Amino acid sequence: MAIESTLVLVKPDGVARGLVGEVVGRIERKGWRIERLELRTLDRATAEQHYAEHVERPFFGELVAFITSAPLVAMRVTGEGAIAGMRTLMGATDPLQAAPGTIRGDLATAIGENIVHGSDSPDSAERELGIFFPA
Ligand code: RTP
Ligand code: MG
Repeated sequence: MAIESTLVLVKPDGVARGLVGEVVGRIERKGWRIERLELRTLDRATAEQHYAEHVERPFFGELVAFITSAPLVAMRVTGEGAIAGMRTLMGATDPLQAAPGTIRGDLATAIGENIVHGSDSPDSAERELGIFFPA
């Protein structure tokens, strides 16, 4: 494995529920480094760019409305195998399918409010980090 950087978001539901510390704590205890961290509210254009791969999906409008609805916390997380490893820590997209012990499996029930985002590949990580933390 290699040292990698990935984009992690604590989505608006996670921030509203007071779960930023829980997510940050799990990342820190895993042994990865948080290199950037910022609370921000996305504008529509940034949200559409971030979720561009889903533009044709029926839930795209809801997805963009939700992610822009309130502040989120964006992080650049770096460490050994961080891209795939963060996906493992998060659990399956649908929290009802996510394994116990994962963030989604332990803390959520709704697919549209599943607390966290993590880049799904090295290409996605590079693209998404470029959107949130250019330079
Ligand atoms: P994310 O991008 O947020 O890390 O989640 P993911 O890779 O596990 O899932 P993805 O397929 O990229 O979907 C992005 C987000 O869209 C919402 N979604 N809703 N209603 C639905 O069937 C549906 N499918 C996906 C989820 O909130 C998911 O995290
Ligand atoms: Mg995704």
